[in-house]
Amino acid sequence: MSYPFQYTNISDYNNAKESATENPDKFWGDIASHFYWHKRWDKVCEWNFKQPKISWFKGAKLNITENCLDRHLAENADKTAIIWEPNSPQEKVRKYTYQALHKEVCIAAEALRNKGIKKGDRVCIYMGMIPELTIAVLACARIGAIHSVIFGGFSAQSIADRVNDAEAVAIITCDGANRGAKEIPLKNIIDEALNNCKTVKNVLVVKHTNSPVNINAERDSWWHNCLGEIDEEIALSTPAEIMDAEDPLFILYTSGSTGKPKGVVHTCAGYMIYTTYSFVNVFQYQPEQVYFCSADIGWITGHSYMVYGPLAAAATNVMFEGIPTYPDAGRFWDIIDKHQVNIFYTAPTAIRSLMACGTDLFDKYKLNSLTVLGTVGEPINEEAWQWYYKYVGKNRCPIVDTWWQTETGGILISNLANVTPHKPTFATLPLPGIEPVLLDDQGNEITALNTNGNLCIKHPWPSIIRTTYGDHERCKQTYFSTYENHYFTGDGAFRDEQGNYRITGRVDDVLNVSGHRIGTAEVENAINQHPNVVESAIVGYPHDVKGQGIYAYVIAPNHAEQGIKQAIIDEVVKAIGPIAKPDQIQFVSGLPKTRSGKIMRRILRKIAEGKSDQLGDTSTLVDPTVINELIEGALV
Ligand code: WT7
Repeated sequence: MSYPFQYTNISDYNNAKESATENPDKFWGDIASHFYWHKRWDKVCEWNFKQPKISWFKGAKLNITENCLDRHLAENADKTAIIWEPNSPQEKVRKYTYQALHKEVCIAAEALRNKGIKKGDRVCIYMGMIPELTIAVLACARIGAIHSVIFGGFSAQSIADRVNDAEAVAIITCDGANRGAKEIPLKNIIDEALNNCKTVKNVLVVKHTNSPVNINAERDSWWHNCLGEIDEEIALSTPAEIMDAEDPLFILYTSGSTGKPKGVVHTCAGYMIYTTYSFVNVFQYQPEQVYFCSADIGWITGHSYMVYGPLAAAATNVMFEGIPTYPDAGRFWDIIDKHQVNIFYTAPTAIRSLMACGTDLFDKYKLNSLTVLGTVGEPINEEAWQWYYKYVGKNRCPIVDTWWQTETGGILISNLANVTPHKPTFATLPLPGIEPVLLDDQGNEITALNTNGNLCIKHPWPSIIRTTYGDHERCKQTYFSTYENHYFTGDGAFRDEQGNYRITGRVDDVLNVSGHRIGTAEVENAINQHPNVVESAIVGYPHDVKGQGIYAYVIAPNHAEQGIKQAIIDEVVKAIGPIAKPDQIQFVSGLPKTRSGKIMRRILRKIAEGKSDQLGDTSTLVDPTVINELIEGALV
């Protein structure tokens, strides 16, 4: 067995659970001892959730890329690290062995050093799903620069917000990214964003789609030119930056219940240990297997389970640029057969959109290499689960339903493939070392089974969020103040009689649209930019493909005007990006408010869900007459 901390049967798993609870420091210290360190830690875990102040492996020194690359060169130099599958099946597949990836990362790291980028600097990465993205991320980590990857679907304005919040000194982007028949002009979007950013000195541009772009000679340079100038020998012999365990590794912005996205900060050692540990356990990855995660590196799933976790475990990863329905809805199945994929990890929204395309396509594919399936990002409904199990897994592959968050860094609740049983629509049980609890609104622990509660975690795990960049108070308020001495997830959960968890969804003002987290306040701020809009309120409603759709109630006195709906949508696309477009816009003359002026979203949600007969208590409303108008005009 190649992973000493992989529990391959139920008794090892139960033993691990027991030792993790009895002595967490010993448990995590033993796991960490299998990694490569320049110096071992003085203390495994120190924590105080009040401040919060959390450190793992304090005193240790390491570089995560040595664990993802250099460490594998002795035995796995020729093993394939990345198989890149392009947008169109007609284009050429690219493969990188561990040795080749190591070399590329060393060269790219040297190119970044050449640009004067150093440890602690923030570098934003805005790219399509191409191998250079993985290389850019690792090159930053190699020199100790803090990467902040921005998903390719975000608008210029949201890029500018993120670049400014992080005070980034450099951007790595590409000319464009392919998404099915469309091309996203990434460099043009960056140019627009940077009109409002003062801190960026360098923009490195990867040539990928060959579309024409502007090159601003003082600021921009081609990636291939920068790398071409590097002496390979020097690059390979320059040591990786030696980092403290708790030095920041990256920032990843995510939406919360306020208008401003927050920069979740993860640190080097704990994040490395937990992503590797969870990767090998949840998926039960075996060294000869091919693993394919269809996520985008712009989200945490890509960071943890396409870059760091799998590479630290010397896995073979399929990376895909494109969309599941181009050139047809068999694209994933085609990739799985072509590269003999064993483990496939995707999102419920992708499954639901493919379900809608019928099952005839499956006649063309074998899918017999698959052994394990996974889902992530949102609750999976029973129908989608059964479809995935039957048509993709051919009734023989376990499905791991992995619950976690940007803030948790890695999977906290999931079955382990072929070790613990799956249960449709349940994420099932916490991983060894994770202690979830359900609390009621007053903060009392709910011990009864078959009940719902607010999902919290008691003890820190190595990849827990450390801070929100530049605003520690916000981290404290959002995650550590609602319930004393607990990390609060923002999710509600149901626990069955065996202790299995089913995540029921967010309990805060955050939506989950196609697995993307969208803050209602962000969308409202965007809509309110429109000159004719007085006020707006956003709620989620059930959507067949997206999981949740975005329902907007808008007060706009001149709403009969031609084109106002489109103009409102355009404001959202401009401020956030196409992922946050409202699906429904209902014009109203007023919103249901309490005497203190708070919008009663519970009522708006019920109406948007088509459950206006279940509004509950409306007696605290200032003007209950507004309700009738809302119900009559409802779009469902
Ligand atoms: C939110 C976190 C985790 C990586 C992708 C999303 C929801 C996540 C599941 C699941 C039900 C899930 C939660 C969570 N979520 N996984 N298996 N079952 N809900 O990361 O953008 O940080 O979103 O996604 O509501 O809080 P994220």
